[in-house]
Amino acid sequence: MGDLILAIDQGTTSTRAMLFSDPTRVVAVAQEEFAQSYPRSGWVEHDPEVLIETMLRTVRDVLARARREAGEIAAIGITNQRETTLIWDRTTGRPIAPAIVWQDRRTHAACERLRAEGAEPMVSARTGLLLDPYFSATKIAWMLDSVDGARAAAERGELAFGTVDSWLIWRLTGGRVHATDATNASRTLLFDIRANAWDPELCALFGVPMAMLPEVRDSDGDFGTTDPAVIGAAIPIRGVAGDQQAATLGQACFRPGMMKATYGTGAFVLLVTGDEPVASSNRLLTTIAVRRGGRTRYALEGAIFVAGAAVQWLRDGLGVVGHAAESGPLAERADPAQDVYLVPAFTGLGAPHWDAEARGAIFGLTRGTGPAELARAALESVCFQTGDLYAAMHEDFAGGEATVLRADGGMAVSDWTMQRLADLLAHPVDRPAIAETTALGAAWLAGAAVGAWPDEDDFARMWARERRFEPAMAEEERLRRVEGWRDAVRRTLSG
Ligand code: G3P
Repeated sequence: MGDLILAIDQGTTSTRAMLFSDPTRVVAVAQEEFAQSYPRSGWVEHDPEVLIETMLRTVRDVLARARREAGEIAAIGITNQRETTLIWDRTTGRPIAPAIVWQDRRTHAACERLRAEGAEPMVSARTGLLLDPYFSATKIAWMLDSVDGARAAAERGELAFGTVDSWLIWRLTGGRVHATDATNASRTLLFDIRANAWDPELCALFGVPMAMLPEVRDSDGDFGTTDPAVIGAAIPIRGVAGDQQAATLGQACFRPGMMKATYGTGAFVLLVTGDEPVASSNRLLTTIAVRRGGRTRYALEGAIFVAGAAVQWLRDGLGVVGHAAESGPLAERADPAQDVYLVPAFTGLGAPHWDAEARGAIFGLTRGTGPAELARAALESVCFQTGDLYAAMHEDFAGGEATVLRADGGMAVSDWTMQRLADLLAHPVDRPAIAETTALGAAWLAGAAVGAWPDEDDFARMWARERRFEPAMAEEERLRRVEGWRDAVRRTLSG
């Protein structure tokens, strides 16, 4: 058996392949960005073949960089953008339409209709989710109803549905395995997260024939071996998890109360709640954090739509920084006497507000406001929103141990932002030694499954932080700033 673990991370804007020699050492990384397609307002699509091509190229690339062979890989872990929906023909392997990406809003009306019919309480109780176009079910129905003959073919069992993990597995195994893991299944609106099974009533409600669904396996289950013609060797696929769940594992958040925040274009915060799902009273999602050895653990999840996107706006929209890395140092120069708030509701507000109609606003501008104050307001908006999720999560779940928030992703690189996050949360924030937490989580599932890597407790002990940010803001100042933010949000909400 080889000594390497390969993690494939198929994300929304890029595909990455990463080789690990052990949980503390990344041997090589390869990454490729790919085109987004926006055929109509509110629509976002990916070319399914491009997802495969970028995966195969980055795998080849990472091996070349490391000067290693495919045969030296002991196991593969896959992690992926979640909810994104694909349907393909089981015989030809060809997709029937472009992938509908999680951000796509085309099924908004379908969700509204179901909500008006009173379906949401039952759907939420079973799936932990909300009736929102974000999730897969209405996207599947849309595809079946828009492609000629698709619905009838699906009913005859000729078509396969999958989230991105299933699609990659199907192609890696030469069409032999049609499976997903419980974390990805828990994002479809078709999966009963308590019974741990596809739910016939939900499938009927959304109009999804059960014959097209993948088999749901443990996140560290056996997903078959790769076809040597595809990747150069027969390698077991032994880890699969949605990217936010994989980051939670990569941050070694296993015990109730542990929490991670991943800052990408948006941000996803997950709080592990343990062996029982916790329902939210604050419109947070309940989701499967991981299922290993038949044991399911749950988490509360909140999403912020604009995190790194606020920095992109500073750079590309306002032109006040030339490079994202300049935003922290610029914010540091802001006048402390100015209270400027940016509510970055560019595409509405996510959890806990879920206001699709809200649009961004800036409050507190004076003649003295300049680029530094705007940069500070943009970075702080991400901290305040994390704080809103943090408060909502702790209202929903009081159990577990008091732990330090573990942050990763692009914005976690900014010392200023991490310090401000700790200040505004009044809670310490840890930044991990291995920043690639998503890939690490997938690699760990696979590595532990084949017995090459340590199991949970030892892996958690090996997890190391690079730096801890301790809160240092005076409480009076913090409360004043948080109240200023809340007021700004109230004035921005559409309702
Ligand atoms: O739920 C969507 C999430 O999984 C996407 O993550 O990192 O690809 O933007 P990312």
